[in-house]
Amino acid sequence: MCLKKCNTPRLFRGGVVLLFVLTLPMLYISLYERSKNAEPRFHLKKVTSGVHGTSQRVKKQTAKDNFKDVLAASSRRACSASFLNADSTNQTSAQNNTAELSRAGFTAPQNESKMCLNSTEVQNMRQHILKFYNPETNLTLTQSSVRIGQRLKYEFGAESFNVTEDFLKLVPKESPLKDRHFKTCAVVGNSGIVLNSSCGQEIDSMDFVIRCNLPQIEGYEKDVGSKANFTTMNPSIVNHNFGQWNNKTKDDYDRLLRRLKQIGDQILYVPAFTTPVQEKNVRVITQVLLEHKLPISAAFPPARIQINRLVKSIWANAGFKIRTPSTGAHMYTLAAAICDQIYMYGFYPFSEDTRGRALSYHYYDTDKMISNSVHSMPEEFKALLQLHKRGALVLHTEQCN
Ligand code: CDP
Repeated sequence: MCLKKCNTPRLFRGGVVLLFVLTLPMLYISLYERSKNAEPRFHLKKVTSGVHGTSQRVKKQTAKDNFKDVLAASSRRACSASFLNADSTNQTSAQNNTAELSRAGFTAPQNESKMCLNSTEVQNMRQHILKFYNPETNLTLTQSSVRIGQRLKYEFGAESFNVTEDFLKLVPKESPLKDRHFKTCAVVGNSGIVLNSSCGQEIDSMDFVIRCNLPQIEGYEKDVGSKANFTTMNPSIVNHNFGQWNNKTKDDYDRLLRRLKQIGDQILYVPAFTTPVQEKNVRVITQVLLEHKLPISAAFPPARIQINRLVKSIWANAGFKIRTPSTGAHMYTLAAAICDQIYMYGFYPFSEDTRGRALSYHYYDTDKMISNSVHSMPEEFKALLQLHKRGALVLHTEQCN
């Protein structure tokens, strides 16, 4: 009012203008910070997915809607056993082991205290992953999405897989994870680090247990448990773990059958369309499952070119460049999409633990740790460690209490 009526001195008007000029950038900064915090921390390019390589929009699901409520109901910081717990780590042996770890660019944190899950971090990762990964459509082909005689392109190479009548019989009508959501999930990798961990009971207490590559469980229950709701199986293991093609015995087939029977009616996830050389192995799996009428719920992910890209970019955004994502990296992506709390065991691609104990590559064999030219496991491990530190998951590399 006064500004109009009074003859306002120049100095006063100048002050008002100056105040305006100063507050505007501050207002802008504050709005920018707010919008930044509202966004997930990772920024990725949109990817396409599906058998035909067409772009799919990630459908909003009930599970996603429930997620916030479930998280709010669960404790905000669910503490678990520590990673490299300073109290129990033998410092001298840990130092001896640093050579290998530092070759991998990894410095073992010596003073890491008890780690907890942070629901905000879990939620951020989940929301981010759900933008690019649909745990239903990316998990498996369904009967309505393929037909007999259809050729499905492999992930690597120009050739394609022929959908036979037998194969189609195993393709599910709908995704076995449709509308599924879990509070606690264990993702069990196969590193020798789990030996003598006594983590079996803890793993079995989880709502949903994911295992990699049809691993041997019998005889290792104390350390890895026995529950398996979701088991992956690279077709190549038919050849690697159950006798070579030119030398397959009845015993090899029996062992394969026994292992497949252990899945019961739970999910068997077979990435069947990776390379053409795997076709023969896929046919064996199909034949065994059908011939013995195993009640398994099968899942055949469409060629994972786009998902590989997604997983790689998640790792790249965390600052790590990886080659083809390993099964374990894929399983973290799945778990992040469907689980509130993710506990990872058996992820440790090094030949010695922090106490200098020699580790085998797999807990169930005596193979030495080899540097893998297909995957970048040490890099993946570092990214998992980073997620662990932020509370997005719990990475177990120590004994369970
Ligand atoms: O299918 P893949 O060859 O990638 O894996 P695997 O040897 O059957 O082990 C399953 C997963 O456990 C791997 O994909 C890795 O993510 C993890 N792993 C690890 O971190 N360290 C090891 N020494 C072995 C496996």
